[in-house]
Parts: sequence; structure tokens; C-alpha cells
Amino acid sequence: MIPKTPNAIKIIAGNSHPELAEQIASKLGIDIAQVGAFQYSNQETGFAVGESLRDEDVYIVQTGCGGDSMNDYLMELLIAISACVTASARRITAVIPNYPYARQDRKDKSRAPITAKLVANLLQVSGCDHVITMDLHASQIQGFFNVPVDNLYAEPTVLRHIRENFDLDNLIIVSPDAGGAKRVASIADKLDVNFALIHKERAKANEVSRMVLVGDVEGKDCVLVDDMADTCGTLCKAADILLEHGAKSVVAIVTHGIFSSNALERINNSNLTQVICTNSMPVESFKEKCPKLEVLDISATLAEAIRRLHNGESVSYLFNNPV
Ligand SMILES: *[C@@H]1O[C@H](CO)[C@@H](O)[C@H](O)[C@H]1NC(C)=O
Ligand SMILES: *[C@@H]1O[C@H](CO)[C@@H](O)[C@H](O)[C@H]1NC(C)=O
Repeated sequence: MIPKTPNAIKIIAGNSHPELAEQIASKLGIDIAQVGAFQYSNQETGFAVGESLRDEDVYIVQTGCGGDSMNDYLMELLIAISACVTASARRITAVIPNYPYARQDRKDKSRAPITAKLVANLLQVSGCDHVITMDLHASQIQGFFNVPVDNLYAEPTVLRHIRENFDLDNLIIVSPDAGGAKRVASIADKLDVNFALIHKERAKANEVSRMVLVGDVEGKDCVLVDDMADTCGTLCKAADILLEHGAKSVVAIVTHGIFSSNALERINNSNLTQVICTNSMPVESFKEKCPKLEVLDISATLAEAIRRLHNGESVSYLFNNPV
């Protein structure tokens, strides 16, 4: 009898973003595993494992998104991990392109919960052996885990897009807040262009902050870069400030397109000519509601990270090279 080859890659699609799991699996040349969550009539999440996972290398693709369902998807991920432990998977990797609760990463006010750390604990207690994520809001979140965390970057994909679609001679990269200075400096450096940043200044406590531009954008095509766009208030405001200072045009590029509340309407009515985000979250349907939205595909980066992890190859190659 010929034994089956153990330790194959198994991609499990969570309900938060099945298209992304599909794209990753197709780039790896495999099918999605016959495994999936379902709902009992009392709203508990059930999980059915319809094929053997014994000794396999399992990757569960579940991103932090979903509005009202966001916490349900997190619970579903925990249950999926636990089900894979029960099914004797050899290694279980959570592929979480947009890490949920990433902004609750420190006690920035008295008695504020550090929920990013709670999520890390929950994932590990469930039996997660490894995490793949992308552009963590704060890279220190990696330290909340005792298991390895591969924090991938959308930067190589973003750089390629900028090189192919923008006139570098007239370009300036802008951070909408001081916190993103390192990110824009890195991009500007690789493109060999200048960068500027917008600094929020609060004259007195409880006073609405004033946005101050540091740098010269006169006559320039500005590209605002940030890790996520949520309500888009800051991005739209930043675009106005740049135009007031004589910028020629303003485009925003973000990794995670959360677009909660009336963000799309805001973008529609703003001075931003275009907003570009990745498909780390299911944003395809937003394109109809917002013609200014453009989506960059990062499934190849995730697929290549999975392939490298599976084969025991270095993942850091992906930090500087688009795939
Ligand atoms: C666009 O920018 C101009 C400043 O150049 C500002 O007067 C105007 O209110 C902005 N429009 C919107 C919709 O924000
Ligand atoms: C944005 O504008 C487009 C037309 O340019 C329109 O079809 C769409 O409904 C608008 N979206 C929102 C959210 O207002």
C-alpha cells in the first residue's frame, strides 16, 4: 500500500473574505479544503471538517472585517483553529491580513483595555501555531504572541503600483499624521522622491486640533499613504490642506480599506481624486458605491508567504520584492 504524502498545504476559507482564500488557493494551485463554519438555529457557530486534516499544514484565512459580523468572524476563526487541533492538523496558521482590534494596542487612556493582546491570547489558547498578517497597525503587536508572527508588507506592491502609474518627477509622498512618518519616509526613499507630513496640533486641551503641513507640496502630485482608512475623515481633511497649500492633485493609498460609517460618501464628495487600497478586506463591492476606489491585489504576496512557510524558506524576501 502506498501511504499518502503527509503534510500538504490546506487552505481553509473563513466567511469574512472567501474570495481572498480562493485567490490564494488558486495561486498555490490547490483547492479550498472541504471545511467550513455554519450557524446553528440558536446562532452558535458550528464547524464541519469534511476531509482529513491529520498531519496537514493548515492555513485559515480570516480577516478582521465585517461591520456587525466582525466579532462573529473572530469567534469563527477561534473555533476553526480549535477544530483543526481536534482534527490532528500538524501546524495551524491563522492568515489574518487585517488584524482585528489592532488599534487597541496600548493603554492610551486610564482603564482602556488592550484588546489586541486579548485577541493574541485567544488565538493561542485556541491552538494557533503561527500567524501571518499584513501591515500591523503597531508592529509591537507581534510581541503579544509567544508563537511566530510574520508581518508582511503591502509596500512592495504599492511601490510597483506607484512606479507604473505616477509621474515620479512631480510626486511627493505625504503622511496624514506624524505617526506614519517612518512609513512614508521608507516609500519616498525607495522612489527617490520627497515626503511631507501633516501634524495635528492641539493648542489647548479639549480644543479641536489644527492640522499643520510640514513640507512643500506646491504644484506637486501628492500621494497620501497610511496603513488603514476607516471613516476617512482625516484623509479627506488632509487632501483639503494639501490643496490649500497649492498641491496639484491628491491620491490616497492605504493597505486596509475598512471604510466604516459614511466613508465612501465622504470620499465621493472629497477633494481626493482616487483612493487605492488592497484586498486585505472584501472591498470589491465598494467599487460600485465609490468610483474613486481602486483595489490592489495582495493575494500573491500571501500565497507566496504560505508557500515559503510550508517549504521552510525565508519570508523576508517578500519585504522588498513584489510578487
Ligand atoms: C476642496 O478643497 C478646497 C481648498 O482647495 C476647499 O475650499 C473645499 O472646501 C474642498 N472641498 C471639499 C468637498 O472638501
Ligand atoms: C458616489 O458617487 C457615484 C457617482 O459618481 C454614485 O453612483 C454613488 O452612489 C455614490 N456613493 C455614495 C456612497 O454616495
